[in-house]
Amino acid sequence: MNETNRAALAQVVFCRGCCCGREDRGFPAVPVEQLKAVWKAERLNSAVQLTISGCLGPCDRANVALILTPSGLEWYGDLGEPADFEAAIEWVRACRAANQLLPRPAEWESRRFVRFADESNEPACVVSRDDDWFPEPATAIRKG
Ligand code: FES
Repeated sequence: MNETNRAALAQVVFCRGCCCGREDRGFPAVPVEQLKAVWKAERLNSAVQLTISGCLGPCDRANVALILTPSGLEWYGDLGEPADFEAAIEWVRACRAANQLLPRPAEWESRRFVRFADESNEPACVVSRDDDWFPEPATAIRKG
């Protein structure tokens, strides 16, 4: 399997699209410059990659953040207080110090939401975590 020189524990994506962070449209700010400055000054990308994105889709939950981990995607919404973003920074600092993924910020727990309509159903494709990226046909179970 191929690797990247930029392997991190996780990636956090803060949305700043057509709604998230758009104070002119009545949404709370996303402190993009502060986040970038902290990540850069403390070299936090080595632990958790920071990405600022355009619209991620679920604008009704603005402000939205997405955390990508080896275990999957985690969606969070309704982030607006400065404490929400401080909690994210503290979480990343703690992950880096521990050199492992730690439980997500407690402040975020109640903000997690289901993004995709099929998430409550059986997965469309089940692949053993020990398999390579491209599984053998016998290890993939297609729904339907
Ligand atoms: S603008 Fe953030 S989800 Fe659409």
